[in-house]
Amino acid sequence: MIYKGLIEKYRKFLPVSDTISVISLHEGNTPIIKARNLPLKIGFNGEIYFKFEGMNPTGSFKDRGMTMAVSKAVEAGSKVIICASTGNTAASAAAYAARAGIKCIVLIPDGKIAFGKLSQALMHRAEVLEINGNFDDALNFAKELSGKYPITLVNSVNPYRIEGQKTAAYEICENLGEAPDYQFLPVGNAGNITAYWKGYKDYNKAEPSKYVLPKMMGFQAAGAAPIVEGYPIAKPETIATAIRIGNPVSWKTAVEARDESNGVIDKVTDEEILEAYRIVAATEGVFCEPASASSIAGLIKYVKRGYFKNNKFGKAVCILTGHGLKDPDNAVSNAVKPKKVKANMKDIIDAVGF
Ligand code: F0G
Repeated sequence: MIYKGLIEKYRKFLPVSDTISVISLHEGNTPIIKARNLPLKIGFNGEIYFKFEGMNPTGSFKDRGMTMAVSKAVEAGSKVIICASTGNTAASAAAYAARAGIKCIVLIPDGKIAFGKLSQALMHRAEVLEINGNFDDALNFAKELSGKYPITLVNSVNPYRIEGQKTAAYEICENLGEAPDYQFLPVGNAGNITAYWKGYKDYNKAEPSKYVLPKMMGFQAAGAAPIVEGYPIAKPETIATAIRIGNPVSWKTAVEARDESNGVIDKVTDEEILEAYRIVAATEGVFCEPASASSIAGLIKYVKRGYFKNNKFGKAVCILTGHGLKDPDNAVSNAVKPKKVKANMKDIIDAVGF
């Protein structure tokens, strides 16, 4: 059967009617890739898997929630959607709105969004407003506007977003034939950790002995770690702009996921994020964006700290939430520069070191 997106596949697990007109770009069904080199390199005596969500149609996990949110908005007669975004939600909302033939407004923090994401929102003809503030400010405006006008808010406060995103946990359970022992993932506005936990709980409820619940291991960037610190951060800062968020909407449900799963929500520094970002690209051939690498940075940190001496190694899945091509500026500025070589064979041979 041809794969037609996650609503068609998981219809019976989702709050959709049989008659809904599905707005889809065939999102979901992303690869789960077993690491070949990383376990040895970092001293993890178990199995590491990457769930490469960058392989969704707009290059991030947001498409899972957006197919649901936009299909439901259109069903309800909405002609305009709005979101605040650090970039990926904007790109995804703009694409699904274009496909649905409705208008999309996006509010982004001025100058702090990766270039690939901006190019997507613009090409899909969203109305892009760069506001002179951060993500949290933008979200407050988006909420207010959607309350005053007939505009559907498609940030993860929209419950259909979480419903769509939970399907990634279903795919992991199906692909591995069981749930993993550890689920590592970045935490920003905290919708995704909420969604994964919901997804794992659904599978656990259906077959508790087969799908034993994983520990949820969420990581925030150190300069934007409100859940770890225990209070909102007025001026969040991190190189991982996707998770540059000081007051997450799904704070409470993220803490519930952490506590119910006996997991952790911790922070990683920008240096640790960049190191993980380079390692996974250079040693596994998987290119993710910096925010996504915070899942791997978290795993490395917990190996170093000896966490797995008291907890078994087992299977760890790291969610790579967005594609590396989203953020070419960070890639180029954190990699070795190309060598300039004269156009003659001798210089080329010298340069490659033969
Ligand atoms: N990774 C990436 C690549 C993201 O874009 C985001 C969030 C996250 C992780 C964190 O997920 O918010 O569910 O905890 N990006 C949002 C956006 C905020 O506007 O694109 P979360």
